[in-house]
Amino acid sequence: MHNDIDTLFANLWQDYLHITPSAEKVHKLLAQEKGDAIINDHIALRTFNIDKVNLDKLAAHFLALGYQEKGQYDFEQKKLRAKHFEHPDDTNPKVFISELLVEEFSPALQALVTNMVKQVADDAVLADNFLYSGTHWQVSSEDYALLLEESEYAAWMSAWGYRANHFTVSVNYLKDYSELADVNSLLKDHGFVLNTSGGEIKGGADVCLAQSSTMADKMPVQFSDKQLEIPSCFYEFAQRYKMADGQLYTGFVAASADKIFESTNVM
Ligand code: NI
Repeated sequence: MHNDIDTLFANLWQDYLHITPSAEKVHKLLAQEKGDAIINDHIALRTFNIDKVNLDKLAAHFLALGYQEKGQYDFEQKKLRAKHFEHPDDTNPKVFISELLVEEFSPALQALVTNMVKQVADDAVLADNFLYSGTHWQVSSEDYALLLEESEYAAWMSAWGYRANHFTVSVNYLKDYSELADVNSLLKDHGFVLNTSGGEIKGGADVCLAQSSTMADKMPVQFSDKQLEIPSCFYEFAQRYKMADGQLYTGFVAASADKIFESTNVM
């Protein structure tokens, strides 16, 4: 496991840019003015709830770096569970980890996912690079299509594996923009496509968190039989509001996150 938070996030970021070229463009657009640093609100990771690779196994990497568990979320329709983690130094990004509840799906999906996870080496989850190690299995384009019928999340995992599913710009820390709506306008003016599921802005001041995201880039993936161009990762934007006690809200809003998951849907 990593002993340095900055190195871990730098590696996650490089891996993410590799399959999310639009993120680099957005990053430059927002940092443009004075080379301002972009502060990340959070990153998100996905996995399956099978023991070998479950949420807790991913979380262990962050707990070892001083992160603490702060919230739990259920997504009944998508059959997902998630937790979020925060570091005492709040300039470090929050971490949102979800896991697919595999046993709630068809025997066919369960068999495919079980077979994928079987191919992950026993000690792989402990490796420094596990959180950006990609897939540890081979699936066919037919398997991908089959997974996609039941769970976009399972299909995404089969193609992309372990890596940041998205990074999230903290709008609160941007120098030139203080409102998420203005960031969205800038992005649209520059031709970026936003996720409109549940509206362009999910949440708002009433729930102390407003979020938007681009639709995922499309990148080629080599499946066991052929190559396909499919959605990879996306970029998210978050504006946090103060709660009644004057503190910025640091949690997540399940109803909004539910729609953010759809940023990797095939359009
Ligand atoms: Ni997010």
